[in-house]
Amino acid sequence: MHILTNKKILLGVSGSVAAYRAPELARRLSEHGAEVRAVLTEGGAKLISPLLMQAVTGAPARCSLWDEAAEAAMSHIELARWADCIVIAPATANTIARLARGEASDLLGTVCLASNAPVLVAPAMNRNMWSNRATQENSASLRERGCVLVGPDHGQQACGDVGEGRMSAVPDIIEAVERSVGVSDQLAGQRVLITAGPTREPIDPVRFLSNRSTGTMGFELAEAAARAGADVQLVTGPTARPTPPGVERLDVVTAEEMLNAVMERANGSHIFIACAAVSDYTPAHYSPKKLKRRDSAEALELKPSPDILAGVARLPERPFLVGFAAETQQVEENARAKLEAKGVDMVVGNRVGKGRGFGDVQTSARVVWEGGGRSIGKCAKPEMARRLIGLIAERCGLENVTLLRTRSSAQ
Ligand SMILES: Cc1cc2nc3c(=O)[nH]c(=O)nc-3n(C[C@H](O)[C@H](O)[C@H](O)COP(=O)(O)O)c2cc1C
Repeated sequence: MHILTNKKILLGVSGSVAAYRAPELARRLSEHGAEVRAVLTEGGAKLISPLLMQAVTGAPARCSLWDEAAEAAMSHIELARWADCIVIAPATANTIARLARGEASDLLGTVCLASNAPVLVAPAMNRNMWSNRATQENSASLRERGCVLVGPDHGQQACGDVGEGRMSAVPDIIEAVERSVGVSDQLAGQRVLITAGPTREPIDPVRFLSNRSTGTMGFELAEAAARAGADVQLVTGPTARPTPPGVERLDVVTAEEMLNAVMERANGSHIFIACAAVSDYTPAHYSPKKLKRRDSAEALELKPSPDILAGVARLPERPFLVGFAAETQQVEENARAKLEAKGVDMVVGNRVGKGRGFGDVQTSARVVWEGGGRSIGKCAKPEMARRLIGLIAERCGLENVTLLRTRSSAQ
């Protein structure tokens, strides 16, 4: 079940040129299982047809506070109570100003004032309108009162300018809605152990072997698992990322330390997600003294680092195992090879290199398991993490019987 299933989203559309993207937003929200109702400002209704919004949401779009028939069917107060979340996309400078002043001069403003639901605002306007001190102060005032501002983005504008003021992309707005409507119970009661980030293998007191991993994917997975109701432990190599809410974090540096931390926790875990980019090799000898230039001219002797995933796979009561395969080529083949070689339940293959894979970039994945697989199209990492957690929950559900049998037979 998607996090938006059965959620009631009130979509406010104001008079920005970006109103043409509101029907797509409504449709995507509906595809995720949300019930959507549109409220258009006077300007919004001039730029996008209420009939089109009705067609994509399956409910009449409301445009006026003074509509006898609509008010009789569902009063503006009932509409305010009905909403689990109000998202105003696009939000004009004028609508932002009205909201900041707490005006109840039209239906959207009145509903916002009367509702306890979270309010998300996706500004869309010319860059000068956005950077104007009045708009900035109004936006800051909304933020202070707990509204979530999504964007705006930087880029080419309808008026020909380039700058900040474009409405955020539809997936980014949906992600913000998902965050605001809260958690699911997909992984309720599950203990999930996740590794993230790189490891550092010391050569001498000032040098180490490492890789480009930033920890982004592992941290997003930890956050998504916690939001899905899991009890999450995150073992991470060195990274600058803040700890996601509700996640227990343990910092380690080397592959050996990560192995020890994982083995101490794996037994009690239901799911283990090995997302860390563990260094494959570690220096065979650590030099307690800084190596001199002349010493480092010699070849560095390396030995393989411990294989953490394989270590957990050998446990008699092993958790559901998810590995990652970051590949520069033949993603599916390499992911399947890893699935077999390591005896794990699922491998997430993704392409890395040439600006792909590391940090806050968009990513796609080919997820494989014995006898099946699924592709996840290009998306931002938080979205990817949520989809992966959903898929893991789904696969664990299918394999619940086996998991439970293994556990109870060992008790
Ligand atoms: C074609 C057109 C496009 C517009 N686009 C924007 C826009 O992107 N952002 C904005 O703040 N105002 C825009 N405006 C101006 C608003 O429509 C105007 O300020 C209006 O009063 C907004 O009312 P509302 O916030 O109640 O919808 C546009 C106006 C026109 C005629």
